[in-house]
Amino acid sequence: MPTQDSVQIAPAEGKLGVLIPGMGAVTTTFIAGLEAIRRGIGKPIGSLTQLGTIRLGKRTEGRSPAIRNFVPLAKPEDLVVAGWDIFEDNAYQAAVKAGVLEMPLLEQLKEPLAAIRPMKAVFDQDYVKRLHGPNVKTEGSKRDYAEMVMDDIRQFQKRTGVARMVMIWCGSTEVFHEPAAVHATLADFECGLQKNDPEISPSQIYAYAALKAGVPYANGAPHLTTDMPALLELARNMNLPVCGKDYKSGQTFMKTLIAPGLKSRLLGVSGWFSTNILGNRDGEVLDDPGSFRSKEVSKSSALEYILQGELYPDLYKDVYHKVRIEYYPPRGDAKEGWDNIDIFGWLGYPMQIKINFLCRDSILAAPLVLDLVLFLDLAQRAGMRGVQEWLSFYFKAPMHAPEVYPEHDVFIQLMKLKNTLRWMRGEDLITHLGLEYYD
Ligand SMILES: NC(=O)c1ccc[n+]([C@@H]2O[C@H](COP(=O)([O-])OP(=O)(O)OC[C@H]3O[C@@H](n4cnc5c(N)ncnc54)[C@H](O)[C@@H]3O)[C@@H](O)[C@H]2O)c1
Repeated sequence: MPTQDSVQIAPAEGKLGVLIPGMGAVTTTFIAGLEAIRRGIGKPIGSLTQLGTIRLGKRTEGRSPAIRNFVPLAKPEDLVVAGWDIFEDNAYQAAVKAGVLEMPLLEQLKEPLAAIRPMKAVFDQDYVKRLHGPNVKTEGSKRDYAEMVMDDIRQFQKRTGVARMVMIWCGSTEVFHEPAAVHATLADFECGLQKNDPEISPSQIYAYAALKAGVPYANGAPHLTTDMPALLELARNMNLPVCGKDYKSGQTFMKTLIAPGLKSRLLGVSGWFSTNILGNRDGEVLDDPGSFRSKEVSKSSALEYILQGELYPDLYKDVYHKVRIEYYPPRGDAKEGWDNIDIFGWLGYPMQIKINFLCRDSILAAPLVLDLVLFLDLAQRAGMRGVQEWLSFYFKAPMHAPEVYPEHDVFIQLMKLKNTLRWMRGEDLITHLGLEYYD
């Protein structure tokens, strides 16, 4: 029985629209997965909302419902997807090109996938240097582009009759930028849209349009979008949740599993070299130094925050952390992540750990997209606005309040997420103290 007041959560009635800028490998794997799940020919492996449980109360109570029965989430079959891309391929053609899923499966899903055609993208070559595509909005200021995206959203809602919507960025990684003067306030940003300020990126135009249209926004890539005052002000004004950034799917996920373990045993780390070989379109975009810089910054921060060199100078003060991404077309989406970790133990004696993760990027990312869509929609119905730190679990560089550091340890992130769900439903938070069992 709940022991606290629960949060008022509006029911998940009607269809949920999922608006996705970027219809490449991750998006098409996500959409194909939804269709496969609907038809009972695939399982949502990797999705906490679909397969996870949550313990409630004391261990003696034996209460561990499925998360999807504990909080009112939209169902995968209630999702209706639409997207934008600079290429004209429909979701079936894009999935074939992405080469993640095998043809026999894609053939079975051809009809629903082929029905999803990308809307014309807001695109700026200065932000993604390696791609050139014809399906883009032309003629107008950045303000006009934002209006066009809002119109796309309105048309989509009219066409499909969805009750609510969420936008999630699965487009390419944009070139690294820091917040600029135009990002200081919403008024500055709106003035910048009018004046075509070069510091306003396409992803920020989509995010602005989404928030203006009452739609929460998640950023799956490492570049700067809503993590600046102007769009956070808009999210607060509109009572909308936002989260990001950069899906924590492969190598960084491994890093945030291993590093907390080494730290828990007070084992030192002198160096951590991470390299990736990947050959998909994402790899091609990241081959550009500007886009790589966005990824490098997002991939680099986790270790520093987990190891806390300032608190443990003997163990982690001088960790040499190096991250590399190598574009190697023969691999396609089947990425290989190599980690060499130089550690030291008792009396400083050195040891090494090698991790070779032969992963599939989009297979790992698709369930994260599903969970984020469902949880952001839940947050919106629960009246939660601004940065959703409880969704840090899903991100390499989690957004956070300015006065706190981001939490990267995947186990703390999961505890934070589950405690947030308990809090929403008025259940006791779980502290793992457990003294009461031994009175
Ligand atoms: N495991 C993962 O796959 C993973 C993990 C973390 C982050 N990401 C990020 O997710 C994003 C998508 O990854 P992917 O493998 O699907 O890449 P992808 O290259 O296959 O797909 C990205 C698509 O976005 C399109 N695009 C680029 N700019 C656009 C714009 N302004 N508007 C609309 N469409 C635009 C491209 O044409 C492309 O089709 C990338 O930014 C990637 O870094 C992926």
